[in-house]
This record gives sequence, structure tokens and C-alpha cells, in this order.
Amino acid sequence: MSQSDLTPARPIEPSGQDDLEARWRDVVGRRSFLKGAGLASAAVVPGAAWFASEARAAAREITRGDVAIVRLLAAIELIETDLWQQYNELGGVNGGNPAYIAALSNLDSDMPQYIADNTDDEHSHAAFLNAYLRSQGAPPVNLDEFRTLPSSHATGAKQQGRLTNLQTLTVDTSWYVRYRSTENPDLGASFPQAVNITHEPAIPLNDTDTPPGLPAPIPPQTAQETRMQAIANTAGFHFAYIEQGGSSLYSIMALKATSLEVLRIIVSIGGVETNHFSLWHDKAGNAVAQPLAGVTDPVTGVTFPDLNAKRGQLNQTNLILPEPCDFLHKDLPPCSIVRPTLDDNGGALATIKSFTADRLFEGQSPKFFRTIHQLATDADAAQRSLR
Ligand SMILES: [Fe+2]
Ligand SMILES: [Fe+2]
Repeated sequence: MSQSDLTPARPIEPSGQDDLEARWRDVVGRRSFLKGAGLASAAVVPGAAWFASEARAAAREITRGDVAIVRLLAAIELIETDLWQQYNELGGVNGGNPAYIAALSNLDSDMPQYIADNTDDEHSHAAFLNAYLRSQGAPPVNLDEFRTLPSSHATGAKQQGRLTNLQTLTVDTSWYVRYRSTENPDLGASFPQAVNITHEPAIPLNDTDTPPGLPAPIPPQTAQETRMQAIANTAGFHFAYIEQGGSSLYSIMALKATSLEVLRIIVSIGGVETNHFSLWHDKAGNAVAQPLAGVTDPVTGVTFPDLNAKRGQLNQTNLILPEPCDFLHKDLPPCSIVRPTLDDNGGALATIKSFTADRLFEGQSPKFFRTIHQLATDADAAQRSLR
């Protein structure tokens, strides 16, 4: 190699802020000039500027359908907040049940922090959506009259009325298979349960069942330790179940929004629901992988098998990112996506039905079901208007 090969074509310049700004001016200078010229011509044609501001105003104006979408999402967020609050009181970073925290930490040592953060996010979603409704002169959603369900009696749980029931869940775990499959429910595919979780608590019920001072060895040694680990494992799968539902619901509601501002709200919150799902997808997998796999609740018989022992893509626990699947048409190439994104499979009514099957509302009043059914029906009926 000759000396000239080693000589840079241009001297290396200092990389300070002044230098960066000088280069930036070189690159954007002409574009800035053109932009200035555009502004000048708009001033000559006042109609163009008027039209632009009209278009902007129209993009912000919210329709009846937009209000229905935001009200349904506010209700869902109040429901999410209520359930996450229960998890957080017992298992969050400031949670009050050491045995539950220890069992959750077998899924990941950061579980308490993640639970606290997810709870904060749901609080912020609910508060923002209701504040936004008020700012638009639309009625906010208040579900306080339905906070009637009992709290857990385990150490750490506050004694107050709840919207949701985490004490006897039947968790749909088919999302685990769906996100590993190359098939799509929107094109007719259906998926089996990864784990059969029926009538299982996702939070400790009381201190007799699971004393708060229990250790959480792997594998659990006593019946009470095994019971608590099964409860924590159920929570792990339930976290992911709730958040995958949110991922689909927000994607579906985005397709119905007319106002660009409402669309911005939906995609901005929806992205965080998907972020939550991805996190919990990873943690749930640890309940069905070694060294934790193989726990059977001695009270209910619910078992968390070693899914890696079954082999194959539909079981592999570390396949936590969505596998590419059919999308729109089977003759198009597979695509890694949120799914489902059709009303029938993940819209507002489908979500409420799924939460009901989850036994999340076990013990709720007929008026509660009528109220959320109406909110969901109105949101599903919203249609994007082309104006
Ligand atoms: Fe949320
Ligand atoms: Fe969420």
C-alpha cells in the first residue's frame, strides 16, 4: 500500500458543534431558501393559506365516532388501571406481599419494577383520555359506581371496591401460539391454548392460603410455595394476555378515527400497549421454561409445563417477537405484524367478550355489562369519515 493510499482525500475536520452546524447549513441551505420562496408565494395567494388552516382545523375536529372511540378506550384504560393497581399493591416495586414478589421475581428479578411502571402507564392513559374528552366538550367516562368487587385479603392489598376480579381467572393463552404461528386469525386461523389456566387466581387470595413470609425456591418445595408460584405464573400469562388485547384494539380503533388528532392519540398510546405486550411475552415464557417449568397448583391442578420439551416453533419460549404471518391475502409474503386487526377478532365488543370469558368481571352487575356493552357497540360502529 503506498503512502498516498493512507492519506485521507480530505483533511479530518474537528467534530465540534460549530463544524456540525456549518456542514448542516451547506446541506440544507438551498432547501431552506426554497421553503422561504414557497412562503412568499403563499402570501401572494391568500386563499392557499386559508385553505391550509381550514384543513388543519378539519383534521383536529372530532366526530361523533371519534368521541365513541375515545370513550371506549377511556373505559378500557380504567379497567386496565384497576387490574394493574391490584397487581401493583401486592407485587409492584413498593408492593406489600413479599411472598408474591419473590414468586414473581422467579420469572424475572425486575418484575416488581415492570409491574409498577405498567400501572403508572395505565393511570396516565385513563387520565389523559378523559381529560381529552373534557377538552373537546365530550363526556368523560366514570366507572366508579361499579367499583364493587372485593379486594384480596392477602397482606399488601388495600381493602377497597374493585372493577375487576383477579381471583378466579380463566386466561386465554392462545396469543402465545398465535404470535409464533405463520397463520393469521383475520384470515380464519384459530389457535390452541399454550397453557390451560382455568379458575386460577393471579394474585394471592389470603394469608392462610399463601403466607406472606413464604420463600420462593426453584423448584418450590412445599404445597404453599407451589401454590404461590402457580399464582405468579398465572399473573405472568395474564399480563401478556391483557396487553396483546390492547395492541389489537388500538390498531383496530385507529382504522376508524377521522380526526388526525384522535388518530395521533390512538397510535401513540397503542404503541405503548404493544411495548407492554412484548415485555410480558418474554416474562410469561420463563414460567414454562427451565428451571421454573413444571409447577402444578395443588389446589386447582393448573400446570405450567416445559413448553420447550414439546419442541417446534409454536412452543419455543424465546420466540418472543412476532413471527411473520399471513397478512391481507395469502398470496402476499408473510409479514411481522400485530394481529388480529379486524373488528370481529379484536374490536371493542370482541375485547369486552374476551375479558368476560377471562372472568375478569366475575361478580359485576348487569348494569356494568350494559354500560360497557354500549360503549363497545358505539366504538365498533364508528367509521372513518372522508369529509
Ligand atoms: Fe393502557
Ligand atoms: Fe395496557
